[in-house]
Order: sequence, then C-alpha cells, then structure tokens
Amino acid sequence: MELADIKKVGVVGGGTMGFGIAINFALGGYPTIIRDLSDALLQQSTKNIQASMDLFVEEELITQAEADGTLSRITTTTKLEEVATQSDFITEVIVERLKDKQVLFKTLDQLCPPHTIIVSNTSGFVMSDIGADVRRQDKIGLTHYFAPPHIVPGVEVAKGPGTTDETYNIIYDLMQKVRKIPIRVRKELPGYLLNRIQGAMGREAARLWAEGVATAEDIELGIQSTFGFRMPHEGPFLHYDLAGIWKWSADIRTRRRRGSEPSDEVAEKISERMDEGKPWFVDPNRFDEAVEKRDREYIRRLKELYRTDEK
Ligand SMILES: NC(=O)c1ccc[n+]([C@@H]2O[C@H](COP(=O)([O-])OP(=O)(O)OC[C@H]3O[C@@H](n4cnc5c(N)ncnc54)[C@H](O)[C@@H]3O)[C@@H](O)[C@H]2O)c1
Repeated sequence: MELADIKKVGVVGGGTMGFGIAINFALGGYPTIIRDLSDALLQQSTKNIQASMDLFVEEELITQAEADGTLSRITTTTKLEEVATQSDFITEVIVERLKDKQVLFKTLDQLCPPHTIIVSNTSGFVMSDIGADVRRQDKIGLTHYFAPPHIVPGVEVAKGPGTTDETYNIIYDLMQKVRKIPIRVRKELPGYLLNRIQGAMGREAARLWAEGVATAEDIELGIQSTFGFRMPHEGPFLHYDLAGIWKWSADIRTRRRRGSEPSDEVAEKISERMDEGKPWFVDPNRFDEAVEKRDREYIRRLKELYRTDEK
C-alpha cells in the first residue's frame, strides 16, 4: 500500500476535534465522510465546518473556490458501515473513553477492507490498549492533533506495538500532504510527547496559583509576555543554543541544572550531552548570525503584538 492508494477518508466523531480534522482532509483534496451518532450532531458539525470556511475566506487563508471545494468533498452519515466500507484511511475522534474506543476499533477492524488504516486522536490512551482486540495490528496508529486542529499545524504521529514502517510512513506522508506538520513520537506512552510537556507547565502553574504565588491573570501574562513570546521561534533546546548556555563553563552549567531533573538517569544523560559544551542545532561559527535572525523575528513580533497603537 502507498499514499496514492488513499482516495477517500473517514472521520468517526464530528465533535470539537472531529469537524476540524475533517476540514484538513477535505481541504487537502480528499473526499471525507464524517460519522456521528445522530443527525442533530452531524448538523452541528456541518455548521461548524461552514463557519470555519467562512472565517478562512474572510481572513484570506483560502479562496471562496477552495472553501466551496472543501465543503463539496465532505459528507456525513450516522452509519458506521458507510464510513468503514468507503474509506481507505479512518481517524477515530470519539469521546475519550477507553472502552468506547476499543469497541469502535474492533468493529471497524471487522467492517473495513483489509487495506484500511485506522488511527486514533486520543489524548491520553495508547494504541496497545485501544487496539488490543484488532487483527490489523500493522495498520493502526496515532495522529494526535491540537485544538483547533484545522488551524494548529503540528500533529503527533506514533505507532502502536505492531504498526509497520510502511503504515507509519503513509500516515506521516498523509499529514504532510494535507499541510500539517507531523511530529515523530518514537515511543508509546500515555500523553505521548507534547501533552506531557504542556502538562508539566500546567501542573506547575496550578501549584503556584494554589500556593498564592501569583494570580491566574499574572501567571497568564507572565507566560505570554516572556517564554510564550519566544516560543514561536524556539523550544528548550534552541533556547539553550541561542542563550549561549553551551558557552558557559561546565561548573556553572551543572549548578544551574542541579536538582531540576526528574531522575538521576535523566540528569546523567542530559549532563553528558551538556558537558560536550556545544549547541544542539546552531552552528557555533554562525552563532551571531543566528542571534540576529532571532532578534529580528522577536522585534517583528513585538511590534505586531505589543506596539500596534504606536506609529
Ligand atoms: N478537545 C481537545 O482539545 C482535544 C485535543 C486533542 C485530542 N482530543 C481527543 O479527541 C477525541 C475527541 O475529543 P473532542 O474534544 O472532539 O470530543 P467531543 O465530545 O467534542 O466529540 C466527540 C464526538 O464523538 C461522538 N461519538 C461518540 N461515540 C461515537 C461513536 N461510537 N461513533 C461516532 N461518533 C461518536 C460524539 O457524539 C461527539 O460528537 C478524544 O479522544 C480527545 O481526547 C481532544
């Protein structure tokens, strides 16, 4: 099977995430069928899709012709068999309840033709659990989107225990084809990658709020106006590079990190890497250039976000 063999896609669950995921596929040119439990729910999905298309056109992200084409490629049904028999690729986006997802995967496994790939958008479960009763272990996987999924570009892509490289590559390539940014997650674990990183910040923010260290308003303001401001340009590794931490002497680097790692094993591994005293991504010979590029980008964002009323 190849990416080109995917001609039609199905989305099971047309709620908060499902309607947006359907938009991605339809906008990418795929006839897309959404299944939900009732006509009323599907009417709401269609309304949401229409409103999003209007917004996309109004904001000049796409043309009216593209919006019309997208809408014409989306159909809906309450019958699971229709999605199962008509789709080469199905995304499960139903309620986050393990039993429901297991039943759905098992039923789809029985109803779909053998080549169909089935993926889940679960936030917290792993494919080993969701797909435990599925025979096509080689053709299941995870695509984890971020709300709103028709706008936020990144999508985590992960395997289940039996997913083949062939299937994985098709899932990955399909995400690129519909203009998402796939992020490879190499291990199966609850929360996968990005919700865990996001969760770490959320937990600490909740603790600091509960301890009265700052108000919710100031925590939001602080995040948005400092590292949140930088984040469109850099994550923690690029930040390490561009802040020049790799140039510090070893004892200062070590002191800075002491006590901040979750385990001795992590501390040892990261210290080993840090002890190399070199950046993760930036070419040390072009450091000044990288810093200038960053600063230009920050200045543009500063003007856009905080200096809009000044001439
Ligand atoms: N909301 C988010 O920000 C977010 C982000 C990433 C991942 N997710 C994950 O996406 C999934 C869906 O979340 P959501 O926020 O869209 O939930 P939601 O409740 O808005 O939508 C779920 C939809 O699935 C439908 N549904 C339930 N059982 C069904 C079935 N058997 N067949 C067809 N439709 C069925 C429901 O009627 C509902 O319309 C969950 O697994 C969630 O963890 C959510």
